Amino acid sequence: MSANPEAVLNAELDIETVRADFPILHQEVNGRTLAYLDNAASAQRPRQVIDAVSHYYSSDHANVHRGVHTLSQRATDAFEGARAKVRRFINAGSDKEIVWTRGTTEAINLVAQSWGRTHLGEGDEVLITWLEHHANIVPWQIVCEQTGARLVVTPMDDTGQIRLDEFERLLGPKTRMVALGHVSNALGTVNPVRDVVAMAKARDVPVLLDGAQAVPHMAVDVQDLDCDFYAFSGHKMFGPTGIGVLYGRESMLAEMPPWQGGGDMILAVSFDGTVYNELPWKFEAGTPNIAGAVGLGAAVDYLDGIGMSNIANREASLLAHATRVLEEVPGLRIIGTAPGKAAVISFILEGIHPHDIGTIVDHEGIAIRTGHHCAMPIMEHFGVPATARASFAFYNTEEEADRLAQALLKVREMFA
Ligand code: ALA
Repeated sequence: MSANPEAVLNAELDIETVRADFPILHQEVNGRTLAYLDNAASAQRPRQVIDAVSHYYSSDHANVHRGVHTLSQRATDAFEGARAKVRRFINAGSDKEIVWTRGTTEAINLVAQSWGRTHLGEGDEVLITWLEHHANIVPWQIVCEQTGARLVVTPMDDTGQIRLDEFERLLGPKTRMVALGHVSNALGTVNPVRDVVAMAKARDVPVLLDGAQAVPHMAVDVQDLDCDFYAFSGHKMFGPTGIGVLYGRESMLAEMPPWQGGGDMILAVSFDGTVYNELPWKFEAGTPNIAGAVGLGAAVDYLDGIGMSNIANREASLLAHATRVLEEVPGLRIIGTAPGKAAVISFILEGIHPHDIGTIVDHEGIAIRTGHHCAMPIMEHFGVPATARASFAFYNTEEEADRLAQALLKVREMFA
């Protein structure tokens, strides 16, 4: 690792060339050049993704798996080809382990309902952490209500890291599932998922990782992580909205019942009963988001072209710079200071509501998110109703971070 992360690498990643791929970045908002710092909520798409979706609709669209005609076969090839790209991208063992969903939320609901309703009973426990996004809390609360199981929550410390000692203590004889985020959307903490998986595996407890904030920013290898489920969304990794992925270990998916019923998830239907389709289609009822999958495949190609290690290095460098300049703003407190965190800076400005901060910096053309970031328990832990959050992608620049710091000084002046 470089002694000075800010000096790392711009040689390998030519930011201006990369930025040229993102048409949306080249516009004025409120009379100022857009600085898009809300990537954790949704990232932007390169023209390669936009073109792939447009080409699919202009040339290849038909329903998949259903037609002998040429367009249906082309659409099926594009759809299944995208699945294979995603499989390679996260190093899953087989295409059968890649289930298309609407996004991370639907992927977690699928596991909670299919696996959870089959395996959870009265008194069983699902172990999550205080750091979770609502998408990795509420689906488990629902299945706990349905089955009589109990949600158990690992506490975190004041830097925003989960307490591993507490996790180990809470991982008990009744724990049936461990579910946690790989990277926190609200704070950027990168969780010690390898330690968590090792502890859970030692007790034969399956692990689901919410990878929505990890996959766009670092290389993810599900076999190396040894998790049982891994969920992520297309729109946070520069692909379309409305498409996401559930990776599931084949042996787990094989014994799980379907979640939704309908077309495409069956081999044969009669009024005496239905024979379900093979993996992964058993979990893909109805006409899927074909264009979304094609676009996500193009996003994977794009990320591969840049290289995930280049992206991770670039973002570490940006985070170091942005942290330094934001810390110079008087009265600014960063919420979430875990070492090695992802390029997310949640902060508050003494005496000023985050929504006011968000609105004022928007007048300077700077997009940040303000609110509870779908993670209300984290806000409760830190005793704040909301934070302002700047979240970076590889296409952001040091100059954009400087502009945010300057805009925050203006916010302070307005409230002085
Ligand atoms: N989960 C998204 C965020 O962190 C919406 O902003």
